[in-house]
Amino acid sequence: MNIVIMGPPGAGKGTQAEFIKNKYQIPHISTGDMFREAVKKGTPMGKEAQKYMNEGKLVPDQVTIGIVEDRLAEADCQAGFLLDGFPRTIVQAQALDGVMEKLGRKIDAVINITVPDNILIQRMSGRVSCKECGKVYHLVFSPPAVEGKCDECSAELIQRSDDNAETAAKRLQVYNEQTSPLLDYYQDKGLLRNVDGDRDPKLVGSDIAASLDKA
Ligand code: AP5
Ligand code: MG
Ligand code: ZN
Repeated sequence: MNIVIMGPPGAGKGTQAEFIKNKYQIPHISTGDMFREAVKKGTPMGKEAQKYMNEGKLVPDQVTIGIVEDRLAEADCQAGFLLDGFPRTIVQAQALDGVMEKLGRKIDAVINITVPDNILIQRMSGRVSCKECGKVYHLVFSPPAVEGKCDECSAELIQRSDDNAETAAKRLQVYNEQTSPLLDYYQDKGLLRNVDGDRDPKLVGSDIAASLDKA
């Protein structure tokens, strides 16, 4: 399965991606995670990306498309992949179509997780994640067993630097302006599957699985 998961910031793409990658045994490719990793390592690409991420803006298309193209050419993507947070612009979507054509493959489904704006803000403001393994928690909706420590590896939990109120609001605006037009793009191709994300994560996950089984 070649799957794209879409939705506004905080919709639960990363959370649902965990379920999907385990069910279909495909790699989870999150451009946001790739950029955060590059920032952590201090690579030139990370330094470039960080400027945009801190302001809630999109990293330029040519940088983003390049890293995704390279990643999709890796061996573990042969059996399929789950793209999270890419594409985010029409230019990126067209580039992805080109890459798929070159590889002789196609996108099977685009999952769109819908959540009202006020809930998105709550989700972003309460999100923390493990410094070491990346596991994601929410201080109210899915807190760790021990405050400030990861359930899996006991490492420290940290907040993302772009989850402050000002940057979160900017990310939402950028989503509405630059990314939401992609919903029509994929609707027109007959690939879009809308899923109500304002429910228990397990219910959201079973809806996604049901819609993928039909894909
Ligand atoms: P990215 O990392 O992709 O961030 P995002 O799209 O803003 O999405 P998030 O990761 O914030 O949310 P999510 O939907 O994964 O939600 P999660 O599951 O964590 O991008 C970051 C930045 O990188 C961008 O702003 C941009 O600068 C750059 N970038 C990335 N890709 C790019 C691209 N293609 N082009 C250009 N620039 C790019 O859940 C959120 C919280 O809610 C968690 O605490 C979770 O526990 C909780 N939660 C989840 N589901 C539920 C539920 N059902 N009920 C209650 N709580 C829930
Ligand atoms: Mg995410
Ligand atoms: Zn951990």
